[in-house]
Amino acid sequence: MWAVGGGKGGVGKSVISANLGVALARSSQQVVVFDADLGGANLHTLLGMSEPRLGLADFLSREVATLQEVRVPTPVEGLSLISSTGGPLDMANPKSAQKEKIFRHLAALDADHVVLDIGAGSAFNTLDFFLFADRGILVVVPDPTSIENAYHFLKAAFYRRLNRAKPGEGVREVVGRVMSEIKGRGIRSPRDLIDNVAEEDAIAGEFLALQARTFRPGILVNRVRRPEDCRLGEQIGLACRDYFGTEIDFLGCVDDDIFVNRSILQRRPHLELYPNSPFGRSINALAEGLLKRSEVSDDD
Ligand SMILES: Nc1ncnc2c1ncn2[C@@H]1O[C@H](COP(=O)(O)OP(=O)(O)O)[C@@H](O)[C@H]1O
Ligand SMILES: [Mg+2]
Repeated sequence: MWAVGGGKGGVGKSVISANLGVALARSSQQVVVFDADLGGANLHTLLGMSEPRLGLADFLSREVATLQEVRVPTPVEGLSLISSTGGPLDMANPKSAQKEKIFRHLAALDADHVVLDIGAGSAFNTLDFFLFADRGILVVVPDPTSIENAYHFLKAAFYRRLNRAKPGEGVREVVGRVMSEIKGRGIRSPRDLIDNVAEEDAIAGEFLALQARTFRPGILVNRVRRPEDCRLGEQIGLACRDYFGTEIDFLGCVDDDIFVNRSILQRRPHLELYPNSPFGRSINALAEGLLKRSEVSDDD
């Protein structure tokens, strides 16, 4: 299960999720794309569909018992969609119990791969969807506001992860105490935090270090026009290593391509219309890379 997020709106999360789903469906039997942008769902449009009649809202209102049943077929063989359009307005902010129920059912989906299209921002619910997937994909575009939002998103996701990991009482006490003294201790990064906690208590330090090591989102640079745009991914990866004290995978680059908008206007999945476009080739390469990485981590 991959989650495509990025903190900022308009960076290409949805168009990448939709087409990643199409690319994965070519080599796998059953792929599901889940529209986790609960307040701004538009995956159906990018997949060339009108608003599905069934979706997450029917599951949350208990008209349908399982998430599996609100999967609808897309025009692409092997690819189905769980849509989040058309629900009540408060569906954009599900309560914790509802969210956990969605997670349980996502995990139980009968599928080879699931792609979650995450909404913008760093609200807890958004972060939780990103963290729930086996692997997070952080989409950035070469523009300072996107990079700034991406760092903020990663930092928020990391602290949220610590919070959700539910350490034992002793560890929580030390981490909580050190975190309450962040300013006085001059802690500027998760890495500083880990070092400070480790000095106080080895077990708590090891807990945090493990959380950092296993927090491994990948970075994808979208809308690349020049080779130096693409290098941004490596630079962010290096900066993250200093900041979090953990490796961040650089997943590659996606070309900026005028045919992306053309396919959206034509209301058909880009990869079906233009499989050999620069964008199409980038997405195919991304899917291939992700599948390879998931085989490696399955072997671990
Ligand atoms: N690689 C790309 N080349 C050209 N246009 C792109 C590319 N990626 C995204 N876009 C355009 O950016 C806009 C926003 O994309 P979208 O996927 O809806 O962003 P998000 O889901 O992050 O808010 C769309 O109009 C899309 O056509
Ligand atoms: Mg979107």
